[in-house]
Amino acid sequence: MKAVIYNKYGGTDVLEIQDIPRPIPEDNEVLIKIFATTVTPVDAAFRSGNPKVARLFTGLFKPKKSILGTELSGVIEAVGANVGRFKSGDRVFAVAPDGFGAHAQYIAMAEDAAISIIPENLGHEDTAAICNGGLTALPFLRDNAKLKAGQKILIIGAAGSIGTVAVQLAASFGAEVTGVCSTANTEMVLALGAKHAIDYSVEDYRTSGKTYDVIFDTVGKSNFTDARGSLTPKGIYLTTVPDIGVLLSPMFAFLRGGKRAKMAATGLRKDADKIKDMDILKGMISAGELTTVIDRSYPLEQIATAHEYVEKGHKRGNLIITVDHPALHI
Ligand SMILES: NC(=O)c1ccc[n+]([C@@H]2O[C@H](COP(=O)([O-])OP(=O)(O)OC[C@H]3O[C@@H](n4cnc5c(N)ncnc54)[C@H](OP(=O)(O)O)[C@@H]3O)[C@@H](O)[C@H]2O)c1
Repeated sequence: MKAVIYNKYGGTDVLEIQDIPRPIPEDNEVLIKIFATTVTPVDAAFRSGNPKVARLFTGLFKPKKSILGTELSGVIEAVGANVGRFKSGDRVFAVAPDGFGAHAQYIAMAEDAAISIIPENLGHEDTAAICNGGLTALPFLRDNAKLKAGQKILIIGAAGSIGTVAVQLAASFGAEVTGVCSTANTEMVLALGAKHAIDYSVEDYRTSGKTYDVIFDTVGKSNFTDARGSLTPKGIYLTTVPDIGVLLSPMFAFLRGGKRAKMAATGLRKDADKIKDMDILKGMISAGELTTVIDRSYPLEQIATAHEYVEKGHKRGNLIITVDHPALHI
């Protein structure tokens, strides 16, 4: 099978398309034929080895795993002898185990991993990008912020993969949403359900005098110290990219009169919890209550170009990688 292989940290030139053996599913595994996947900042960080702290997880001196790719959509090609949850031909979307392995034509996964059946009215490109944004935004808003109807939330990075889902989910919870993005994306952010959009190139939310019950920085462009003045007295600051201020926040909360900062590593949640949330998200998308924003698509062969685009830091929603399976002409 074709796969994108990397054996050392570095620029996009470390990515190589190679032919490698197709995985053979164990008795408890399914083999998924991948039709669509994504490139996210997580893939770019795992490829470059920066920030270096990520290497504690991916390998100190060289990558422990050689195929990137955190999420995918495809069809079950084969099942192991003990598999009962899926059968060959099922259309599924999934989170790749440990955030690796989706940039290939096939992946083998345990049947109880984060895999979910695709609703009939959705395609592979609609579902490949559910998990990065959805499985991050949903637990942050529901479990960490405990966001309620009527609360005011500021979402920084409202135009990204996590941000576009966060805006829609927060609005669906009944919160009043303000999205922070660039000029080019304000209309989209309003169309997704934000009541207000702050164009960060002309306005600084910290100087507006407005306060929010929740500030959710989806892209790590702020810090708790600066954001504190824009929180209500019991307000919560959430970030997907924590700094030392966030990590130490619980120890010094008493100094701040109740304002708190939180982060979560949503990728490390149990697969069973992810599956429940995949069912919620796909149900909303299937019912037209949630949209997966797609910026652009590239074929697997253009994976380096896709990484370069993601690393610019301005994709709108998601970047899809299509994976083809040419028929063999013998
Ligand atoms: N903690 C966790 O569990 C967890 C899970 C998944 C991902 N993450 C992390 O979350 C981060 C975001 O991921 P993502 O996939 O959502 O990223 P993404 O889609 O690549 O984010 C791109 C967006 O960032 C926006 N942006 C850039 N500069 C900005 C600024 N100064 N202010 C506001 N928005 C700005 C851009 O909007 P404009 O073009 O309008 O500027 C663009 O739409 C990554 O660092 C990733 O590693 C953490």
